[in-house]
Amino acid sequence: MKPDPASGKQGITAFFSPTESNRLNKRVVRFTITSSGIGPLRKLIESHYPDLAIVRFPSHKVDLVNELYRSFPEVVFGDCLVEYMIDLEQVSAPKNQDDFDLGVLEAEEMHFEALDHIVMYSFSNYKNHYSRNPRLKGFDLIPAYQEWVRASVTSLDKTCLLFFYDDILCGFFSAEKAGTVYRGLLSGVIPAYRRSGVFRGIIRSVKSIFHQNGATKIVTNVLLENRPVHKVLLGEGFVISNSFLTMHLNLRTSHTLPPSRRWGKTFRSITSTPRRPRLRSRHADLPVGNTKTD
Ligand SMILES: CC(C)(COP(=O)(O)OP(=O)(O)OC[C@H]1O[C@@H](n2cnc3c(N)ncnc32)[C@H](O)[C@@H]1OP(=O)(O)O)[C@@H](O)C(=O)NCCC(=O)NCCS
Repeated sequence: MKPDPASGKQGITAFFSPTESNRLNKRVVRFTITSSGIGPLRKLIESHYPDLAIVRFPSHKVDLVNELYRSFPEVVFGDCLVEYMIDLEQVSAPKNQDDFDLGVLEAEEMHFEALDHIVMYSFSNYKNHYSRNPRLKGFDLIPAYQEWVRASVTSLDKTCLLFFYDDILCGFFSAEKAGTVYRGLLSGVIPAYRRSGVFRGIIRSVKSIFHQNGATKIVTNVLLENRPVHKVLLGEGFVISNSFLTMHLNLRTSHTLPPSRRWGKTFRSITSTPRRPRLRSRHADLPVGNTKTD
């Protein structure tokens, strides 16, 4: 993704996403907000003219959710991500820790097929912001994740570890390196090996392998509802460092008017009050104020 260099100054960064655009057959632009409000975001969205805007912001800016719903015609709440961090210099290994005996190997191109397989089984029922958007109904997350994991094998600034139980591939962990900070990208355990401590074993190995390779910190994101991962990370010395909300704005969906004209109409129709309240003769005698809302 290419950041728009002019945009970061306003507390928002815009990234055109070629991979997502190709895959979804739409112009997808991602907007990451750090400190900005709805006004600058609206302007930036208009200047980038996306079909789909994926907007991510820290969850303490939760008021933006309502502002987005008020400002755009088709808004989808995507997901909530919790970011965890561990300072490998500060945290010592817990005593009396039963080490889970997993074999480990750094993935190479010859493991692509095995990786595709493990990603497919690990993420078969996985739901995130893409699956909540009704406009992306036919979208299959698996090939996108397979491509993402393959890229972590071939990119110099990324790595992917494979984990084996009794010589059978059961899990993986891919990460991006930025100096001494390693960022977890995707990880998973195949269903047949779940609930027996494999992921905990993976996280323990990752901490020690990354530390040996020069990492001082590991940062990783997890969906709010992914309880097993929270349990493992908290137990292994990670702390919550941030949290983010992801929203989708489906734009230019029904016709091709430039957004400023179409949204202009929408804003007018939302904000203007009807000149004369319409008489609703059939319901004019309904009681007011005692309707149930739950
Ligand atoms: C999330 C995932 C990695 C967990 O792997 P796992 O090997 O089953 O995890 P563990 O066995 O180490 O379990 C960790 C803890 O969560 C608990 N747990 C695991 N699955 C659970 C479930 N479905 N419901 C409730 N608790 C669960 C375990 O009992 C364990 O708790 P304990 O240490 O108190 O016994 C695996 O389910 C998975 O691959 N999911 C799909 C992909 C994914 O979510 N990847 C991670 C984010 S990218």
